[in-house]
Amino acid sequence: MSVVGKPVPHESARGHVTGEALYTDDLLLRFPNVLHAWPVCSPHAHAWVTLLDAAPALSEPGVVTVLTAADVPGEGDTGSSRHDEPLFPKEVMFHQQPVAWVLGETLEAARLGAQRVCAEYEPLPAILTIEDAIAAASFLSGPCRIADGDVSVIESSPLKFDGELMIGGQEHFYLETHCAIAWRDESGGIAAHSSTQHPSEAQEMISRVLGIPRHRIAVECLRMGGAFGGKEVQSNPWVAIAALGTWKTGRPVRVRLTRALDFALTGKRHPFLARYSAGFDTDGRLEGVRISYYSDGGWSLDLSEPIMWRALFHTDNTYKLPAAELTGLICRTHKTSQTAFRGFGGPQGMVVIEEILDQAARRLSLPPDVVRERNFYRPGDITHYGQTVKDADRIQTIWRQLKVSSEFDRRRTEIERFNQSHPHHKRGLAITPAKFGISFTAQFFNQAGALVLIYRDGSVQVNHGGTEMGQGLHTKIQQIAAHGLGLPLEAVRVMPTRTDKVPNTSATAASAGADLNGAAVADACRQLCVRLAEVAANLPEGVPFAQVCEAAYRQRIPLFAQGYYRTPNIHFDPKAGRGKPFHYFAYGAAVSEVEIDGFTGDYRLLRTDILEDVGESISPIVDRGQVEGGFIQGVGWLTLEELVWNVQGHLATAGASTYKLPSWSEMPEIFNVDFLQRAAESGVVMGSKAVGEPPLMLAISVREAIRDAVAAFGDGGPHSFASPATPERVFFAVQHARTAKRTSNDLKEVIRR
Ligand code: MTE
Ligand code: HPA
Ligand code: MOS
Repeated sequence: MSVVGKPVPHESARGHVTGEALYTDDLLLRFPNVLHAWPVCSPHAHAWVTLLDAAPALSEPGVVTVLTAADVPGEGDTGSSRHDEPLFPKEVMFHQQPVAWVLGETLEAARLGAQRVCAEYEPLPAILTIEDAIAAASFLSGPCRIADGDVSVIESSPLKFDGELMIGGQEHFYLETHCAIAWRDESGGIAAHSSTQHPSEAQEMISRVLGIPRHRIAVECLRMGGAFGGKEVQSNPWVAIAALGTWKTGRPVRVRLTRALDFALTGKRHPFLARYSAGFDTDGRLEGVRISYYSDGGWSLDLSEPIMWRALFHTDNTYKLPAAELTGLICRTHKTSQTAFRGFGGPQGMVVIEEILDQAARRLSLPPDVVRERNFYRPGDITHYGQTVKDADRIQTIWRQLKVSSEFDRRRTEIERFNQSHPHHKRGLAITPAKFGISFTAQFFNQAGALVLIYRDGSVQVNHGGTEMGQGLHTKIQQIAAHGLGLPLEAVRVMPTRTDKVPNTSATAASAGADLNGAAVADACRQLCVRLAEVAANLPEGVPFAQVCEAAYRQRIPLFAQGYYRTPNIHFDPKAGRGKPFHYFAYGAAVSEVEIDGFTGDYRLLRTDILEDVGESISPIVDRGQVEGGFIQGVGWLTLEELVWNVQGHLATAGASTYKLPSWSEMPEIFNVDFLQRAAESGVVMGSKAVGEPPLMLAISVREAIRDAVAAFGDGGPHSFASPATPERVFFAVQHARTAKRTSNDLKEVIRR
């Protein structure tokens, strides 16, 4: 009986709920002589550091030393895509940026020491908004561009309109804040525990900063208490400071950000501004679209470029763009360096096209679901970047099935009746689809390795390059390995991720963790099975696995194997804006219903129905958790979570008291989650599809349902509001809808034709 496809609980579920599961900071107990680190933070968003005198801090009891640029034996920079993130900056680039780090016997000593470091600054003007960055031509890189077809058709389209949409960022708010512990190993090299999605890059950064080769460094990640993209590269500086502190003092050093520091110092989802013009025919079929995206990249480049590319790649969502001209510019602002966040730019691009389609529908007095459907890809259609959507029929299948199972049409009629009899409360209903490209868009990241060890008693250890952040990767790997060796789940143990077991790994990201590492593990298991089958052939039938392993050992057959996988046939040329960047697409759709209180703008999410294509699920409970969690995280982004920077560039929403997270009360009152059946994907391990990020974008159904309800306060005409749709924004949108009359010139134009 295979354990793949069985609804097994997350391998650490017990530990998660009992508190027994250990995280990086829990390992502190193993280091009795550890030093604690606290940063000296700049009070300005942009400034020259004119003086840094650490001496006063050294007289603070318990302070051991202060780390400054003078202590760096290698290169003092932890920028991932560009060397543009000095650990000890001369020019401060965002409010609270660390300029030095104090090491103390206790955290309190380090914190008091940091207050006593004498730092002087010469403040400089700060750029704090996308608009200001555009005006100052402050960009982190050249434009990204994808163009296809002749967009001049927009000018002659029967329906033409322009618009602008501001989309806010998002704080990751992983429950476990950033943490790293480093120490000298017995060879004098560096060992580190790091809460990171990318242990190999932690190793690279330690090597860079200390100027020592990578074989002297070993980094381990046991598990993370959530990451969501926020620990893909943003974990680098903390592990580098811990390693540098260890290098200087010879003692273990722990860096753990408090929630307030984590908010202040680490990057968030990119805010985006989109300026568009779109042309449609009178049936609501898109003829052409031109969009200029501006993302707020913050102070350094980070992953902003591939994130912008993913926004451009996902502007089509599930729709054929007959003509498109998409450009993206990354603004340099004096804020935290914005970074990967579940969806990686895809969600921003998809929100924009859904906005445009809804605008068109309301201008044409057509139901938005009909306009969406009319623009769907057909099988064999080619995207604006040249990739064939070979299984586009799944979009239609999911759409039709979900409309039936959610009773879309019946509820539509019921809601209209409700709205007619309730002047101050309106309900809205929306169905939105999602298509998400699976693969890292940089080809070389799409590889993975594994090392599978069988012991003579038949028990198995699996090492692979992926990290566990709660998403259930280790659970799936355990299932794949047990399946691959024909063993029960308990016979297989997945080990903590270590750079000295599998080298040169990619970040666990792009939802590809199970696809890549799972395939590498399956490869290793296949090799072991071949070897063991030969041994078993000479043994009586029905001999237990352990006995076969013992026999193999005695015959001097190796009981361990390395596995490897690289995704075939993917490529993309950024200069041409053409290629096949994705191995396949993950699909889904959601129907959401909301009710708005017109007096306050407050709303409730009454019901959500989701149909997600996860291929053949390896682990249905894990996948369900990913769909539910991803969706709710998307709802938070689009409706509640608002980052506010004040005019000095201070983040005014730097804690759970001012930054509203979704909680139990924001769950849909009725929540139905289903998987598309008989959906095995060929060419992927176990026929399963990636599930980590795609469901987040189903939350767009909530934004669109809110829009539908707002429109019901007026005459149903087009309207727009920035994201997130907080009750405040919804209130003003309702005020606007109540008074606005459908006088759009565009519409008259259409009617005249
Ligand atoms: N689920 C949990 N519980 N915690 C997380 O941090 N990160 C998400 C997603 N689901 C995350 C999560 C992100 S951003 C990605 S890319 C994927 O998990 C990464 O894991 P995978 O590739 O194994 O799906
Ligand atoms: N997705 C997520 N993370 C990444 C990517 C990507 O496409 N490229 C580099 N890091
Ligand atoms: Mo996920 S944003 O690719 O870490």
